[in-house]
Amino acid sequence: MNKHFEPSELVGTPVAQVGISRPHESAHLHVSGRAYYTDDIPESEGTLHVALGLSPIPHGRLKSIDIEALRAIPGVVAVLTAADIPGVNDCGPVVHDDPIFAKDTVQYVGQPVFAVVATNRLIARRAAAKASKVLDIEPLEAVLDPREAVSRQSFILPPMHLTRGNPAEAMATAEHRLKGTLSLGGQEQFYLEGQIAYATPADDGGVKIQCSTQHPSEMQLMASHALGVPANRVHVECRRMGGGFGGKESQSGLHVCVVAMAAAKLNRPVKLRLDRDDDFMITGRRHGFEYDYEVGFDATGLIIAADLTMISNCGFSTDLSGPVMTRAICHFDNAYWLPNVAIRGYTAKTNTQSNTAFRGFGGPQGAFAIEAILDRVAGALNLDPVTVRHTNFYGRRQNNVTPYGQVIVDNVIHELTGELLRTSGYWARREAIERFNASSPVLKKGINIGPCKFGISFNLTHLNQAGALVHVYTDGSIIVNHGGTEMGQGLNTKVAQVVAEELGVRFERVRSTATDTQKIANTSATAASTGADLNGKAAQDAARQIRRRLEAFASQIYGGEPEDVVLSGGRVQVNGTNLSFEELVAKAYVSRIQLWSDGFYATPEIHWDRETMSGNPFYYYAYGAAISEVMIDTLTGEWRLVRADVLHDAGRSLNPALDVGQVEGGFVQSMGWVTSEELVWHPKNGKLLTHAPSTYKIPTANDVPAEFTTRLFKNENVKDSIFKSKAVGEPPMLLGFSVWLAVRDAVRAAGGPGSDPVLDAPCTPEAILMAVQSVKKPAAVA
Ligand code: MTE
Ligand code: HPA
Repeated sequence: MNKHFEPSELVGTPVAQVGISRPHESAHLHVSGRAYYTDDIPESEGTLHVALGLSPIPHGRLKSIDIEALRAIPGVVAVLTAADIPGVNDCGPVVHDDPIFAKDTVQYVGQPVFAVVATNRLIARRAAAKASKVLDIEPLEAVLDPREAVSRQSFILPPMHLTRGNPAEAMATAEHRLKGTLSLGGQEQFYLEGQIAYATPADDGGVKIQCSTQHPSEMQLMASHALGVPANRVHVECRRMGGGFGGKESQSGLHVCVVAMAAAKLNRPVKLRLDRDDDFMITGRRHGFEYDYEVGFDATGLIIAADLTMISNCGFSTDLSGPVMTRAICHFDNAYWLPNVAIRGYTAKTNTQSNTAFRGFGGPQGAFAIEAILDRVAGALNLDPVTVRHTNFYGRRQNNVTPYGQVIVDNVIHELTGELLRTSGYWARREAIERFNASSPVLKKGINIGPCKFGISFNLTHLNQAGALVHVYTDGSIIVNHGGTEMGQGLNTKVAQVVAEELGVRFERVRSTATDTQKIANTSATAASTGADLNGKAAQDAARQIRRRLEAFASQIYGGEPEDVVLSGGRVQVNGTNLSFEELVAKAYVSRIQLWSDGFYATPEIHWDRETMSGNPFYYYAYGAAISEVMIDTLTGEWRLVRADVLHDAGRSLNPALDVGQVEGGFVQSMGWVTSEELVWHPKNGKLLTHAPSTYKIPTANDVPAEFTTRLFKNENVKDSIFKSKAVGEPPMLLGFSVWLAVRDAVRAAGGPGSDPVLDAPCTPEAILMAVQSVKKPAAVA
């Protein structure tokens, strides 16, 4: 009898492996410091270290680099520039405008121009820090502000448009109208583990790269292009990341290319681990957005027409700015029916870091605009912001088509917000807050709701595919390998649960291994929240093929029909015989039954026409809402989150504990973005001034309110997703808007009825103080 099994399991009762809370499969390693991240992998003898020499100016013509001065430094082994790249000098994921090393021009402060390879990291860093002394650059005019970029027609891509109905006519006849501008800052991913890559040369001119990336296949292609070798010479592996948050979807590429070319050139293992300040200076982040809008509405706050211009600050290169803007445009509606709407998206090119993916990928930027607009509408009509939102929600059977033409068939926003309003005691608290505010001249409270509807699938349809490999070894232990990457979100845990469920074994029998381009080819990034949806389905496909073979084999040996064989809880019941999974596997092996399989999945039903901006880009939507209560000090602008209640739709959750963690994390990350995380570039020299935790303020445990309730909404996916679950990674990024909206509500209270705060995001204490001043002005309702 197998020693791994307890007596209670012998009865063969069905044991569910999905739909139950389990700790993250590596939680014990994370908390004890034993988990291997890239920097923990033992270094091979002779490993060299790289540091990057960065441009000190935002735009200029690169005239020369005094390489000899750097080479002369003891310990420096090589200095590499664009001229040393054997293949293509590019690491752009979509458009080839992203040089690994700046060649003739530099385009932002922090752009890598050369790499110093040295015997240790400190020597490399000290040498690279001499960049401003060894670079001869003739300054050119720089564009730092996205609105200025638009006025100069400095765009990354042609403008995008989406129109439905007749917004101009509807606007002209609307009972009320509001116009405005709004600004939403960018956001640093602030993964705890910075960008890192380690390359080891192979004997056939190839290279193995262990790195922190959400996209191993993209890293493989980028490195192969940089080296000028076929992809089969480049092997990329990522065991786990200490966070990615989108920042390692494309922008791990530069570091991968640098170590790959250094290792290939010097025939030595090479590591590049960015210092945090350099990480801020070199890599891009969430796109900041600027908005101009006009909205027409009736006396109930029902929106008749909306006209929105969005400007995203892309930085110097394309990166993923196209699909980010597309997703922003497809999320302006959030959970609301907009009968007549015009949306324009401008991708501004500026001389700053190239902005990239960040949890939500433009979706939150789109939704933020409508939330801010609805809040102004409520204020202008002196209606409760909850009521106005409710008035505008998509209908279940009518008014249920998005501006891009997708019919919403899974709308639960009414039920979900209804439940949250009840459980949070919203209406009673609203009254209590009004009483408090009436008697509190300096401290003011505010409360507000932030609803969420978020489309799930990559908006580039072909990316919605995944592969997996499941091996059952002869002792009955199981390995699953899939194309997704683990960044703390618990993907490996969920996929292992799926395999355990499918093969009817206990979770502990299944082990997930590092993502590896030699195991699963042509993977998509772990992004768009689709990790478990895609890789879970692919792993299920692989496991199901093995199970079918085992069922057929069992019925062949013990009699009965294959479909009557039950595999559950590590036991197999077949035609009255009860044996362990291990026993069956051992017998199957001897009978030469294939005990491993690959699996594949491609999301059905989705399609998208980029030209007309229409189609069914999303397989389904995830919903959620948060209600936040804040208190502000009207004399200092300081504020505090007093209480937050969150209700989120993860469908039939694969692992409620992990999903609650994702929702809480997303809420807090979202709150940080719209409140405290402020990015400031020097208006003249273009340097990012907030490039470390000393100046860039992410939320801490102390910012989480004492009263913080997160629950999952009881629901199941109407689509055939993996065990009817829903993706959960990004949608909660909309929920922290409730904090910003609650601050707005508190500022409005400071100004009295009809006041119309001017508040951008992030609402730092300074911004809140200025907004308190602004509420003295009367609202402008046409
Ligand atoms: N959670 C943790 N702990 N760390 C991360 O880096 N990234 C987020 C989200 N949750 C992230 C995270 C982002 S940007 C995405 S797209 C999803 O996880 C990706 O994982 P999934 O598709 O498996 O949910
Ligand atoms: N989300 C995240 N990453 C992406 C997407 C998306 O929709 N499209 C392309 N890369």
